[in-house]
Amino acid sequence: MVKSCILKKLLLFFVLGSTFTNIYGQEANKMDWFSDAKLGIFIHWGIYSLGNTSESWAFHNKRISHSDYMAQADSFSAANYNPGQWAKIIKSSGARYSVITSKHHDGIALWNTKQNKLSTIHKTPAKRDLLTPFVEALKSNNIKVGIYYSLIDWTHPDYPGFLRDSSRYKVQEHPELWQRFIKFCHDQINELSAQFNPDLFWFDGDWEHSAEEWQASTIKENILKHNPNAIINGRLQGFGDYDTPEQNFPVTRPNLKYWELCMTMNDSWGYQKKDNNYKSPYEIITIFADAISMGGNLLLDITPNQNGTIPDEQIKTLEEIGQWTNKHQEAIFGTLGGMPQGHFYGPSTISKDSCKLFLFVPAKISGDIVIKGLDNGIKSIGVVGNNAVLKHRVVGKISWSQVPGLIYISIPESCQDKYMTVIKLELDKPIKLYRGKGGFN
Ligand code: GLC
Repeated sequence: MVKSCILKKLLLFFVLGSTFTNIYGQEANKMDWFSDAKLGIFIHWGIYSLGNTSESWAFHNKRISHSDYMAQADSFSAANYNPGQWAKIIKSSGARYSVITSKHHDGIALWNTKQNKLSTIHKTPAKRDLLTPFVEALKSNNIKVGIYYSLIDWTHPDYPGFLRDSSRYKVQEHPELWQRFIKFCHDQINELSAQFNPDLFWFDGDWEHSAEEWQASTIKENILKHNPNAIINGRLQGFGDYDTPEQNFPVTRPNLKYWELCMTMNDSWGYQKKDNNYKSPYEIITIFADAISMGGNLLLDITPNQNGTIPDEQIKTLEEIGQWTNKHQEAIFGTLGGMPQGHFYGPSTISKDSCKLFLFVPAKISGDIVIKGLDNGIKSIGVVGNNAVLKHRVVGKISWSQVPGLIYISIPESCQDKYMTVIKLELDKPIKLYRGKGGFN
């Protein structure tokens, strides 16, 4: 039956075959690499990385004055910055893309922007463009490049918003100031396109103005003029390609086809000396499995400090995640979201040809796992990253009924993973699920 799946794919290829159609008969699409990638690493790095304040919000919310916040720039050295090592650490986690803050809401650019002097080159002892070498390191490690850019710029004199309870002016009353700001903002985005040609633009802060005010359609047009395949996240007032729930985990599958959960490793987006409330590798892995089960990605944040050192705790976690993603590659990368809720008490994914079903089982389970409503013959059951062959029992199949029986599988302790074990079912044909209410049919 593997053969029948391959034949089906070949048939689709010949019937639909064109340069825009892949072997699964789906249209090749600029989102393909993104939906295959599953794991990305987010990096928040800026003058807030001294570890005493939160990124930008510290002055906006008046926990510190704007001038004290900006004075942190004097100690931002980037002295141990090693972009090649960063890229290696990211690679070791299994991530296929990375998104770095080119400029947060505080307005300080990490690249050599020509639009103002507010950059690490002019304002910090680092005195250099920090973005270029990282983008190069990502490219040479075959990791897709994502650039975070804050539309909000609370330091810019032409930007209306400043502190939580005060702003510089109202857009309607001073359209000329706003137009000047928009030109600055669009010019910076165009610089990022021209200098870095990122695979993905990750905008933030769109909530402070409407699509019309941001001239979001022009931002998108300019990006696509430069690179028609560039992906734009969902924070451009309706002009993005995918949804970006933040921290809050979706319980049901989001409506948008493409989505990405962005999440901190502890409780902070930027480096904070006192924040040791780290999620464990087990917690991150189970969250990740849940995200890919619902067809999404995980963008996991790391926080280098002011000298460019990534905290050890974070490196260790990425390595642990990496060992797990490496062992279970087949069940993760390039798969489709899994079965809808109700068939299996846990996350699952499906191979692109739909002939393999992967079940994610938490470590240390004792009872059998069970699948409901799987209307397929099973060719074999194995454990990913392990040679074990597992047996199954079909329970409660009624000979005269169309309703599939329950499938019970026991997983010996010897083949259980320390984080999540992944069970692979080879099916006789593309997965078919019974979604009925039981009864006589
Ligand atoms: C937010 C915050 C910000 C953080 C971002 C990451 O919207 O404003 O500080 O960078 O989310 O998703």
